[in-house]
Amino acid sequence: MSTILVKKSGSLRGEVEVSGSKNAVLPLLAATLLTDEACEIADVPDLKDVDVMSKLLMSFGAVVEEDKGAKTVKVCAKTITSNEAPCPLVKKMRASVLAMGPLLARTGRAKVPLPGGCAIGKRPIDLHLKGFRTLGANIESTEDELNYGYVEAVAAKLTGGEIYLDTRSVGATENIMMAAALAEGMTLIENAAQEPEIVDLANFLNKMGAKIKGAGTDMIKIEGVKRLHGAKHTVIPDRIEAGTFMLAAAITNGDITITNTLSNHVKPVIAKLRECGVSVDDTANGIRVRAGRKFLTATDIKTLPYPGFPTDIQPQFMTFLATASGPSVIWETVFENRFMHVKELNKMNAGITIPEGRKAIVPGGRSLKGAKVRATDLRAGAALILAGLTAAGETEISDIYHIDRGYAKIIEKFSSLGADITRTV
Ligand code: EPZ
Repeated sequence: MSTILVKKSGSLRGEVEVSGSKNAVLPLLAATLLTDEACEIADVPDLKDVDVMSKLLMSFGAVVEEDKGAKTVKVCAKTITSNEAPCPLVKKMRASVLAMGPLLARTGRAKVPLPGGCAIGKRPIDLHLKGFRTLGANIESTEDELNYGYVEAVAAKLTGGEIYLDTRSVGATENIMMAAALAEGMTLIENAAQEPEIVDLANFLNKMGAKIKGAGTDMIKIEGVKRLHGAKHTVIPDRIEAGTFMLAAAITNGDITITNTLSNHVKPVIAKLRECGVSVDDTANGIRVRAGRKFLTATDIKTLPYPGFPTDIQPQFMTFLATASGPSVIWETVFENRFMHVKELNKMNAGITIPEGRKAIVPGGRSLKGAKVRATDLRAGAALILAGLTAAGETEISDIYHIDRGYAKIIEKFSSLGADITRTV
């Protein structure tokens, strides 16, 4: 079982380029099922999740050409030969559910295994299904002979409608937007998620001939069209990777320039780091983060849907706060179980307590100690790398497949900044 070894490293310094966004490229790839023409996605990150999504598209009959050197993926779903997602692939990646909307719109049917929960929460898809029902689909849940759950959506025709999302769900907003693109008439998504990845998807769909307005606000209007054509699109930079390197500068008292980053996508992280005394400045092609002072002050964090503080940067920020001077409180309002990393950080002397499910108290001012720890999910794994950079001695992180799902070339990137980090085989 391979692990990542991190030794106490000095201040990280230098420049690092962020890859294309995992959470943008996955819906973009799913959207290519909406047309029988060729699409090309550029600046695709080299991630396990992208490989799984490519295999998933091929299982539906699409021709997929990944060129990792050129960072492009070409997809042509000229003929859809299956509208059932294979179980093993879906189990590997929750984002497989994003194929439902396109398959339903393109073929009138979509059947996917229930993605199931994961370390950070139950991850239901009730809002996705609520949207499909509003567009006219009949939804059935079935179980196979092994009692494994599937959900099937069938609709002879999709007709526009008004959908209110009880929770600002990123995936539900994306799935409904893709299905509505080919529905007859107007669809309105109210209380829509506003993440930059949704804007990126809407931009790609509009390049394909869709008529979508309001992406990035809480109300998205989609005027259905009869068909969509192929298009080329470049993925937006990964704001969560950018935030992770911003925290690396803060926790090691370093000076890192992060390129290929849009600072307006990481405003909450910039604001909270500045509250802690970290300098953050725009540069010609990114952001420069400097933590001049030895001890930085603490601040409280509350995760919220965009444009609030991103839940995907909560574990990394918590790690930094464990070393900042003074106590802080972290509220995790998006997922019901996204403190799995606390147990691992406490093995490193973080001293964090969880008085109630969604509230963590970080005492701060701790000198972390190296330990054997486990990545419980993708972002928790990144947080443990940050902890290892500043902890005395050596930190060995297992279950690193989580990290490889969402961070391209993470060892090389941290090493180029001066981190003492290696992957054991
Ligand atoms: C996306 O997941 C991201 N993944 C997540 O990133 C991110 O944490 C999350 O959005 C929130 O920003 C991708 O984009 C591939 P949600 P998604 O639907 O779409 C509840 C990472 O580390 N909900 O916005 O699955 C849900 O339980 C990953 O990169 C329902 O109740 O998240 C959660 O509490 C982790 N019913 C909340 O909404 C539904 O039908 C937000 O979930 C759907 C969601």
